Amino acid sequence: MYRSHNNGSLRASDINTEVTLSGWVQKSRNKGFMIWVDLRDRYGITQLIFDEERTPKNMMEQARTLGREFVIQVTGTVIERSSKNPNLPTGDVEILVSKLTILNKALTPPFTIEDETDGGEDVRMKYRYLDIRRNPVKNSLIFRHKVAMEVRKYLSNQDFIEVETPYLIKSTPEGARDFVVPSRMNQGQFYALPQSPQTFKQLLMVGGMDKYFQIVKCFRDEDLRADRQPEFTQIDCEMAFVEQEDILNVFEGLTRHLLKEVNGVEIEKFPRMLYDDAMRRYGNDKPDIRFGMEFGELNDVAQHKEFNVFNNAELVVGIAVPGGNSYTRKEIDQLIDWVRRPQVGALGMVYARCNDDGSYKSSVDKFYDQDDLAKWAEVTGAKKGDLICVLSGDTNKVRAQLSALRMELATRLGLRDPKVFAPLWVIDFPLLELDEETGHYHAMHHPFTSPKPGQLELLATDPGAVKANAYDLVLNGNEIGGGSIRIHDKKTQALMFDYLGFTPEEAKAQFGFLMDAFQYGAPPHGGLAFGLDRLVAILGGQETIRDFIAFPKNNSGRDVMIDAPAAIDEEQLQELNLKLRK
Ligand code: AMO
Repeated sequence: MYRSHNNGSLRASDINTEVTLSGWVQKSRNKGFMIWVDLRDRYGITQLIFDEERTPKNMMEQARTLGREFVIQVTGTVIERSSKNPNLPTGDVEILVSKLTILNKALTPPFTIEDETDGGEDVRMKYRYLDIRRNPVKNSLIFRHKVAMEVRKYLSNQDFIEVETPYLIKSTPEGARDFVVPSRMNQGQFYALPQSPQTFKQLLMVGGMDKYFQIVKCFRDEDLRADRQPEFTQIDCEMAFVEQEDILNVFEGLTRHLLKEVNGVEIEKFPRMLYDDAMRRYGNDKPDIRFGMEFGELNDVAQHKEFNVFNNAELVVGIAVPGGNSYTRKEIDQLIDWVRRPQVGALGMVYARCNDDGSYKSSVDKFYDQDDLAKWAEVTGAKKGDLICVLSGDTNKVRAQLSALRMELATRLGLRDPKVFAPLWVIDFPLLELDEETGHYHAMHHPFTSPKPGQLELLATDPGAVKANAYDLVLNGNEIGGGSIRIHDKKTQALMFDYLGFTPEEAKAQFGFLMDAFQYGAPPHGGLAFGLDRLVAILGGQETIRDFIAFPKNNSGRDVMIDAPAAIDEEQLQELNLKLRK
């Protein structure tokens, strides 16, 4: 038996019992005649004591050799500590060791296994197994487990069945590139790893499963960001015989359950916002509504003077920065530099100070008088002491730029409190999105999403205006889930592929299996998928999903621990009939 207790469990009530413990040496303090060792495992830390009076000499010698991260087993008696540590659950007691076994020695770790470590990101990723021993990473993984368990519990109680779907499939177009896997048995042919189980879950509905979910890995070969990994996990869900309202209710219920069980936060009803309103009010389809700073569109009150920058713009739009009038000229100049960075891309920024005496001072005083600026303040909701920041240009671009500025300023102003949760549904997404580069429309969500009833005809005349039965769940400015009511008849699906530029042959080759299935009694159905990594990170008060994934990839999509991706040897290439371009 390696242990009778774990290292987080002993209390004053255990004094005088004999126990056996195993774990890692967190640290050892050697005072010569006395040695204290902090023994650590997943559950906590227990202090061990060796002293010259009570410990045999050879064991004393052995204890002196213990280095950080040695794996040891001890047997001893629980005794009361002379100086207690109120910060440690086991802080009332220590173990007077009578038997010490070194189970495994350890090299000195390349960084300290402490909450605040001295290790940089790269070295911690290379030795991720050591990083996982640290509380912040360990606790994140435990937290993730807890969320996943609650998800399974909640959905199972609602009659959802977890069904596994294959990982070796054919590509489904969902916006990103596929990871492909060459087939040895079918030379020259490739599987694709699923970007999501989308078509399979629809086929499960045709198969009569009625309510499906799966906590499932998805793979997308796309550029990485803090909230994106090439392999990530979805809570993927689908239901038959449902309308949008049914789906929103079920998954609002799940999210509310998680907020309550995991965070102890109770939220009544999630607000719903039309996509068009989200774009107009926040410049963004995933608005962070924990704070205000809503957009004020200024065309009517800013395009009547000689200022051509505004007059030539499709949209002039501003936000009021609370207390922003306290910014110095230098700070405002830095803000202007910030919006002009290539990542944001604004050409410049106009600003107006709202002075405490009710007057205004703007960077465009030459063109606008106090009455004009008072109107800007009214439209943006600016109060005395605020700063109005105004951008102008093409509607889509300028909204994205001002949205970036809004989020940046809110972060600087401490308005994005990770302990506050503000979920909302964004609904009525456009069905199609224009690709500015190619001039073609593609499905905004995916090609299986149904248009709103009665809008199919609009596709021929004004495709950009067609709205879909598609929705996203947004939490604190992050898209944590998205889904739609699906097309469930062959004719509409074929029409959709046609609008998306597929020839009938291409549509049949890629999605014949789905359209065939629709001919055999497909029920009306719809669903959604949460990004589990994102959901967990945000519930955990963070936005970087890497910390909640045991073995994540770095920004170049590499696993630096196992050194993947890597070349494969010539023999493997030949077996797969693959040749590398020299
Ligand atoms: P969608 O593509 O919107 O929908 O994905 C659903 C959710 O998955 C998360 N997500 C990601 N998380 C981490 N890294 C990534 N690279 C990544 N990409 C997406 C997001 C997103 O909201 N089949 C549809 C769902 C449906 O229609 O039911 C789908 O995959 O949180």
